[in-house]
Amino acid sequence: MTKPLILMPARMMPLVAERLSERFRLARLWEEPDREGWLAAHGGAVRGIAAGAHHAVDAALMARLPALEIVASFGVGYDHVDAAAAARRGVIVTNTPDVLTEEVADLTIGLLLSTLRRLPQAERWLRAGRWKGEGPFPLSPTLRGRTIGILGYGRIGKAIARRLDAFGVEVVYHGRRRQEGVAHRHYDSLVAMARAVDTLICVAPGGAGTRHLVSKPVLEALGTDGVLINVGRGSVVDEAALVAALEAGTILTAGLDVFEDEPNVPDALLARDDVVLLPHVGSASVHTREAMGRLVVDNLASWFEGAGPLTPVEETPWGKDRER
Ligand code: 8YV
Repeated sequence: MTKPLILMPARMMPLVAERLSERFRLARLWEEPDREGWLAAHGGAVRGIAAGAHHAVDAALMARLPALEIVASFGVGYDHVDAAAAARRGVIVTNTPDVLTEEVADLTIGLLLSTLRRLPQAERWLRAGRWKGEGPFPLSPTLRGRTIGILGYGRIGKAIARRLDAFGVEVVYHGRRRQEGVAHRHYDSLVAMARAVDTLICVAPGGAGTRHLVSKPVLEALGTDGVLINVGRGSVVDEAALVAALEAGTILTAGLDVFEDEPNVPDALLARDDVVLLPHVGSASVHTREAMGRLVVDNLASWFEGAGPLTPVEETPWGKDRER
């Protein structure tokens, strides 16, 4: 039997392409000089897609692939894949949850402490010879005594909360539903939670349902001692409102790993010394990215072996009631 044809629309880490080539026929679309021509000639034979983290797999692309059975996407967030359109066609969509949970939670704590204790700024101070020249680095804000609100209390949010419990700070969360069997207090209103906390950690998924949830009123509610940490998706925060809030002193500062238009970061943020900005590195260790890559391959292998997808997303008509 001929091996199934898998389409890779954009370059992914070498491990994924190498492993897929062992089991499947792999079409590297980005290497094709005439992509439209390739899709017209071979789209009918494509049975699976291996999707990179940011390349759109939309209804228009899927419409050109009538034999498509599965889209295996890299990353836990899959706002670049039209999972609802896929579900309507009975196409499976998988993501890479769990394998990155602890890594992203670790990074979040690092970013939180870096932002509060101003670690990047302190290092810049030392490197610039200012310790020797001007004396000690100025005193920083602190994590001590803070109350942390989590927006996106799923697997990663809970892993962050577990770590924060060990730091001895109070943790609460916002979500549409109160979750049973959890120790942290629930707020059904984001503005109400923002008013009750001084630190807001966003780890919510992207997509239309969460766009600009962190708006001007939320930032105002967070207040002048407020710190915003975003490790989920840039689209969840109204970036223009955030810049305005920082400029006006509406909140104290921010630590951001994600942005609305990556890799473009607003000049107004780049110009500020008080914010900590990271280039979307939440899951970006060799260990974790390789685990994510293996899970992309394993989802495709499992599906084409007839054993079903390993980690289908919630829109997919397969294995309901999964926690995100
Ligand atoms: C991605 C992420 O893998 O998993 C996610 O949703 O945001 C990251 O871990 C990253 O976007 C890859 O570039």
